[in-house]
Amino acid sequence: MPIMLIHNAKQLLTLRGGPQRGEILGNLGIIENGAVLFRDARIVEVDASSDLIARHPAEARLDAGGKVVMPGFVDAHTHPMWAGDRAAEFERRLQGKTYLEILEAGGGILSTVKATRNASTEELLNQTRPRLLQMFAHGSTTIEAKTGYGLDLETELRLLKSLVALDNEGPWDLAITFLGAHAIPAEFKGRGDEFTKELCANWLPEVKNWWHENVAGRPLAFVDVFCETGAFSLEQSRQILETATDLGFPTKIHADEFDNLGGTNLAMELGAISADHLVSTSTAEISKLGESEMVAVALPATPFGLAETKYANAKAILAANGLLAVASDLNPGTAWCENMQFSLALACRFLKLTPAQAIAASTINGAAAVRRQANVGSIEVGKQADLLILDVDDYRHLGYRFGTNLVHTVIKKGVPYPVQTWPNGLDPIDI
Ligand code: NIG
Ligand code: FE
Repeated sequence: MPIMLIHNAKQLLTLRGGPQRGEILGNLGIIENGAVLFRDARIVEVDASSDLIARHPAEARLDAGGKVVMPGFVDAHTHPMWAGDRAAEFERRLQGKTYLEILEAGGGILSTVKATRNASTEELLNQTRPRLLQMFAHGSTTIEAKTGYGLDLETELRLLKSLVALDNEGPWDLAITFLGAHAIPAEFKGRGDEFTKELCANWLPEVKNWWHENVAGRPLAFVDVFCETGAFSLEQSRQILETATDLGFPTKIHADEFDNLGGTNLAMELGAISADHLVSTSTAEISKLGESEMVAVALPATPFGLAETKYANAKAILAANGLLAVASDLNPGTAWCENMQFSLALACRFLKLTPAQAIAASTINGAAAVRRQANVGSIEVGKQADLLILDVDDYRHLGYRFGTNLVHTVIKKGVPYPVQTWPNGLDPIDI
């Protein structure tokens, strides 16, 4: 890979200086008319265009054309691998059924589990790959990706293996999470404690062994649990996360999506990397986030997707000096949206973040939520060259505009991928 110099960025958003806590969130570290030099997928210099061009007059150049250049999004919470869809369930919810009622009746997550178990590995890969491609084309260069629609050991391992295969395929980077505790599977209905025991005694050790044998050299996957009424109780979640921690897994939790069971407290107590959703988190728990290293991950596409009006209290999290990230929660039940820019637009309106805050929450703070802040999430010397050229000259268009793709070019590990496929208008197909 040769050296490449991207220059003429009207605003180069560096996001330098590490994850951004509390009220300092939104520090974009802008270089006007900036430039970035990278070599072999790594950033080697970041400066004003005139200075970098003067120092490296002979390097291959990519003209950013006066557009905004920023780090790729780090989408820290997604469920991208499933089969089938839940369009009929969406319609039932609009007619008055709630998400938890549908889950209780064996639908919801469990209906996706049925479809996923019945799908071949090849079908799963073929349904997941286009979603990852869409996410990538909308600017997500690092994507956390959970299992959780298998819920028997064999299928969960198949999902894990398939996610590892898609990570190897790239161009995206995946941060993989084992979510065997996504719901109580139908065969354990009414026996959640037994399922929890089975997961702790057999599944987690098995996953650890599988990982060590098959994914040599990479840090262990995360372990996550859906702590919620109708899914895993606080006590069951504690058992799962404690066992995972003892085995050496970094952990995450789905907490307070609907009911406040105390999952956020539990996650802080156990040293989890992140707690996600946090819609109904108590004031007492929020006030503790400032003393915790744990990242609070808000997922505004989920209440939006469920047509609910209550969102994570981001303002309170920031006032408490918490570390806030914003992610998509891509999944077939509550938030089928591959476009992180839409989550930013929702974050501005319903979490009351400024565009600058939403950008920091979905880049450098997203990186912290998957423990990759040393490698991605900002444009700094030594980091991986994961950049976006946006088709705008003012970063505030992110958040302000929604629904269309503002990404012009994705640069992943130093390789540019043009996103605009119809730059010169549409040519009709000859029939
Ligand atoms: O984060 N809450 C649990 N998991 C997903 C929803 C999964 C589903 O409904 O399929 C979420 O919202
Ligand atoms: Fe989720």
